[in-house]
Amino acid sequence: MKHLLDTASLDRDDIDELMELTDAFVEVSQRPIPKVPTLRGRTVALLFYEDSTRTRLSFETAAKRLSADTMTFGVSGSSVTKGESLRDTALTIEAMGVDAVVVRHRSSGAPHRVASWIDASVINGGDGWHDHPTQGLLDCYTLRARLGSLTGRRIAIVGDVKHSRVARADVWAFAALGAEVVLVAPPTLLPPSVEGWPVTVAHHLDDVLGSVDVVALLRMQRERTTEALIPSLREYTARYGLTVARARRLGENAVIMHPGPMNRGVEIAPEVADDPRAVIVDQVRNGVALRMAVLFRLLGAEARSAPAVVDLPAEPAEAVRA
Ligand code: NCD
Repeated sequence: MKHLLDTASLDRDDIDELMELTDAFVEVSQRPIPKVPTLRGRTVALLFYEDSTRTRLSFETAAKRLSADTMTFGVSGSSVTKGESLRDTALTIEAMGVDAVVVRHRSSGAPHRVASWIDASVINGGDGWHDHPTQGLLDCYTLRARLGSLTGRRIAIVGDVKHSRVARADVWAFAALGAEVVLVAPPTLLPPSVEGWPVTVAHHLDDVLGSVDVVALLRMQRERTTEALIPSLREYTARYGLTVARARRLGENAVIMHPGPMNRGVEIAPEVADDPRAVIVDQVRNGVALRMAVLFRLLGAEARSAPAVVDLPAEPAEAVRA
């Protein structure tokens, strides 16, 4: 595997392998010194054309815990404000010597373009409405940790599917692991066609609550919505919000997820976000280990075999820094 651009091209074996690597990096993350020398001397560039809290900090932490060097690029303060193109920016970063570039961009397909221009590995950190593969994979990992296998599990993805790259990433990753995915949204918040997607569609959240193992909520993508697709946020919450009353109808082992950032009180009630069945904090925590697994898989796998690397005892801090 050279790049990670989407989840649709991953099969069950690819995902299982990443899940096993993530287990090992969760263990590393729990050590007193959560750092291994695996990617010492490698450089990971974070090319972020769009705002991010979780994904950027998570990749940065993951790279540092593998002892890679990081370069962070944000649009404001860069020569993009002087009109430099994505291609020239990518070539400039490559010329400084990088092994992997994480690309977040408001345009779908930007990471694919970057992958065609440079030799380094490219990881899609979220592109437009298209995909966000590390989010899909960390969601799989988090569900696997709670539920065991995903095979035959029924997962509702609820909300603004139309504008959500997380929904697209989740659909393909969950389906690859044998889950049954139901999209729950008003017709205006669904893509024009879901033909070919491994999903069923429902328009009423209340109809599916009794039959699902997982409710994966999506943020209302207000910055991506140009038309009035819903009458009002209050109306949306009344029909699609995971309110306290609706959460009561879920089983005691049900799982509630949200990729963040949450609009508390819109798609999820504040109390529900803090419910013991919610795994929102686990998603963030697991995201670091999953991104370590991805960086290791793309950059480190040929150097040493996985178990040998991740079984290394924690090194003293001086040795790691050397
Ligand atoms: C998401 C994103 O930016 O795609 N956040 C994330 O990466 N965890 C979801 C969102 O913006 O709603």
